[in-house]
This record gives sequence, structure tokens and C-alpha cells, in this order.
Amino acid sequence: MSFEVNLPNHIGFIMDGNGRWAKERGLLRTKGHQQGLESAKILIKHCSDIGIKYVSLYVFSTENWKRTVDEINFLMILIKNHLKKEYGFYKKNQIKVVHSGDILGLPKDVQKVISDAVNETKDYKGLTVNLLINYGGRNEIVRSVNKILSSKVTEITEDDIYKNLDNPDIPEVDLMIRSSGEQRLSNFLLWQCAYSEFYYSNVLWPD
Ligand code: IPE
Ligand code: IPE
Ligand code: MG
Repeated sequence: MSFEVNLPNHIGFIMDGNGRWAKERGLLRTKGHQQGLESAKILIKHCSDIGIKYVSLYVFSTENWKRTVDEINFLMILIKNHLKKEYGFYKKNQIKVVHSGDILGLPKDVQKVISDAVNETKDYKGLTVNLLINYGGRNEIVRSVNKILSSKVTEITEDDIYKNLDNPDIPEVDLMIRSSGEQRLSNFLLWQCAYSEFYYSNVLWPD
């Protein structure tokens, strides 16, 4: 007997609650981010194993620049180190890495590791992992509209806007999951979540 499993095509994750996880344990917020990355890796592997096609992970928002310099620097280092050392993991699982967000607003060295990871994995045919780094839904839509305007059109359609988003090949989000009990979107994939189902879990991201 065979079972038909109806999987969502694209799942978006708002990985929230790293700071609270650390605070509960009397640790620095940075420890929460470190543990949060471990959980993200387990999740990516699981999504790949069960045959999900697209996963979007909210890593760093355009609003996250309001955090302390120390926390921002730590997050940038975590992103760099992860992308530099995980080529083997991505290759073994045939996971393709793509980026969404305003790349030019990131430090040069972070821009470089992101474009290297995207290039290195571009031909892999398994799960696509869309990393949202310096990402804001409003910012992405504004950048899309500006790209269209530079082609001198007189009227803009919905299709034009979708095609000029950062990753127009990725379909809309079917299911958005946010951890840690906050029930809001926080500027996550605004255009692509128009028809998504939302699931909120009280579990903190590292757990
Ligand atoms: C999410 O966890 C990770 C990032 C935004 C980078 P938080 O750092 O927002 O954790 P809380 O919400 O303070 O617990
Ligand atoms: C959303 O979480 C951003 C990421 C997970 C990267 P935040 O913790 O930054 O969101 P707000 O500020 O509480 O809405
Ligand atoms: Mg938070």
C-alpha cells in the first residue's frame, strides 16, 4: 500500500526567540543565536530528507540593524562562518542556497561569502534554501518597483512586481511558521505570503 503525502511546496520560517532562550538559561544572547543556528541546520536537513522543495529562513531583517553593535557583529560572523564551512553539507544533500535581501547594504566580506555560497551550490537539484539576510518585505517590493521604473514602463502589473523580486523563480509561501509565540509577520516576505497559512508555535527557536 502506498500513501500520498501532501507536502507544502514552500515553507517560510521566522526563527524567533533566540534571545529569550539564552536569557532563560542565564546565557548571553549570542549563545542563543549559536544554538539557533544548530536548530536551523537540523531543520534544513529534515526538510531536505522529506522532500520539501523550498525553505525560506529569516536570518537578519532590515530592522535588526537597530540591535547593539556587538550583537550585529556576532550575527554577521555567525553567518560568514556557517556559509564558509558548510559546503560539504550542502553538496552531500544537494541543497541550493539563494539569498533574498538588500545585498549591497551588507558588509563587503558578508556579501562575498553569500555570493560564493550561491555560486557554489547553483547547480544542485535538491531543496532550495532561501536565506533572508538584510531582508525586509517592504524594501524588496520598493527595490522591485525601482528596477521596473528603470525600464521606463508606463504601467506596472502584479506580474512585473513578482518578476523583479529577489528570487522570482521561487513560488509563493504555502506555510509560514513562526516560533516563540509572537504572532506577527515582522516584514517577512510580504508579497509572497499574501495567501499563506500561518502557524505560530510557543516553542523558542533553539528548542
Ligand atoms: C531571532 O531571535 C533571531 C534574530 C532576529 C536574528 P531574537 O534575537 O529575536 O530572540 P528574542 O525575540 O529576543 O527572544
Ligand atoms: C524577526 O524577528 C526577524 C528575524 C527572525 C530575523 P525579530 O525578533 O527581529 O522581530 P520583531 O522585531 O520582534 O518583530
Ligand atoms: Mg525576536
